[in-house]
Amino acid sequence: MRLFKTIAGLRCYLNQYHRQTIGLVPSMGALHSGHLSLIQQARRENAIAVVSIFVNPLQFAPSEDLQRYPRTLEQDQELCEQAGVDVIFAPSAEEMGADSNTITAIIPPATMTAGLCGKSRPGHFQGVATIVTKLLNVVQPTTAYFGQKDAQQVAIIKRLLADLNLPVNIVVCPIVRETSGLALSSRNQYLNSVQQQQATVLYRALQQAEKAFQQGERQTEVLIAEVKAELAKETAVQLEYIELVHPDSLMPMNEVNQVGLLAIAARLDNTRLIDNVLLRERRPIVAIDGPAGAGKSTVARQVAQNLGLLYLDTGAMYRAVTWLVLESGIEITDEPAIAELVSQSEIQLIASDRPESPVQVTIQGRDVTEAIRSLAVTAQVSAIAAQPAVRQALLRQQQRWGEKGGIVAEGRDIGTCVFPDAEVKIFLTASVQERARRRHQELTIKHGTAPSVEDIAQAIADRDRQDSTRAIAPLQQAPDAIELITDGLTIPEVIARIVSIYQGNRE
Ligand code: PAJ
Repeated sequence: MRLFKTIAGLRCYLNQYHRQTIGLVPSMGALHSGHLSLIQQARRENAIAVVSIFVNPLQFAPSEDLQRYPRTLEQDQELCEQAGVDVIFAPSAEEMGADSNTITAIIPPATMTAGLCGKSRPGHFQGVATIVTKLLNVVQPTTAYFGQKDAQQVAIIKRLLADLNLPVNIVVCPIVRETSGLALSSRNQYLNSVQQQQATVLYRALQQAEKAFQQGERQTEVLIAEVKAELAKETAVQLEYIELVHPDSLMPMNEVNQVGLLAIAARLDNTRLIDNVLLRERRPIVAIDGPAGAGKSTVARQVAQNLGLLYLDTGAMYRAVTWLVLESGIEITDEPAIAELVSQSEIQLIASDRPESPVQVTIQGRDVTEAIRSLAVTAQVSAIAAQPAVRQALLRQQQRWGEKGGIVAEGRDIGTCVFPDAEVKIFLTASVQERARRRHQELTIKHGTAPSVEDIAQAIADRDRQDSTRAIAPLQQAPDAIELITDGLTIPEVIARIVSIYQGNRE
């Protein structure tokens, strides 16, 4: 592991890896398991994992705890080393140009900083936005990792990336909590053991509202009253705010429809604590990942039918784009023209009753359900699917489906990248031998002849290696996915298992 304190050193090091994926976890150090969950994900998903450790003076008001903020670089270094981090970037305030307030500032929209923490911390999010922009420019990561713990920060950074067209993916990781429910925070170090116990009321209060939400309550006023009632039981905890806002726009809402962010800040003596929960009315998502040839699409289609959910046929989406490209007369190799075309096109998948073709596919309003099965489309679809701009555009469309839920989706990276918060994640796999045997059988039935099982097995093993080391969307098992090895199982047996996992999950 390398430690750099200068931009020059870091840039020179990263230049060696400019064609590889770089994951960045921005932090202020005093690392705990919350930070580590981000670091581990960055480690898993990238060739190079970078952690920045910088207590950013720009985001502290004069009255705040800049001097007192814990600084534990040696211990942080050890934790990063253990987590397999490649580089720590720990610059000084001078190196970041953050030692005075004359720096060019990034000012987030006032509507996003007026409420929640912005109200009591004027200038805080401007300081965050400025330093995050600088870190992204210095490191130029493929993906940056942030925690849902700071939900307002996440919304503001997402908006910043969109507004400034910064070419970075953002991954938001769930809140890591103590077993007591207390959200981990570097500031928990300020609390004595009695206060740590008192602080657990924050999450309990949010959970009361969550329970009411699950029972059908949608009115903000009532949900907030639930939080306040619970909080009143712990008089040492002084409420600063409790607000229900839209998680992207941060605009206050009178009632939740589809999704709301319930966020709280409170003080225990001089220590300020924050926490939040997402209240989401969404039908479940079943995400099926796994290596090629494990039967994902057959299984996903039938699981969807069985559960009355929509099969999100991502293959059909790529085929629809391929059809549109061919129809428009654009050269398959003209990636910029294809990027422009796909960014302006809208694909619809509509569940139909016909069992042989359960999902109707339209692109730009034209029904292409049959047309996308043509030989011409089949011949070109993988060349189109390999183009990053096509993937990006379709990913956005798939995630829009995810907002409503009620879908079964399959792919190489559905449970890891596309729907990381799917309720049910299955990693469907089978041994190379078994997949080769199935493929051999399939080919023999279709063509009367097939390569030897050994040759097919070799090709499958090569494909697995290639898929799991891809720069974009590698094949990986999500840590929370259930592995289902299908050797020796029939398709109905596999489907029955997934349906029972789904039902178990719903109870
Ligand atoms: P810091 O508070 O050190 O947090 C670094 C990252 O860790 C943030 O994205 C934060 O949301 C995440 N994090 C903290 N506690 C967490 C928990 N319990 N569970 C999950 N994630 C958690 O946030 C900052 O630093 C700064 O504002 C920064 C973005 C580095 C800019 O200076």
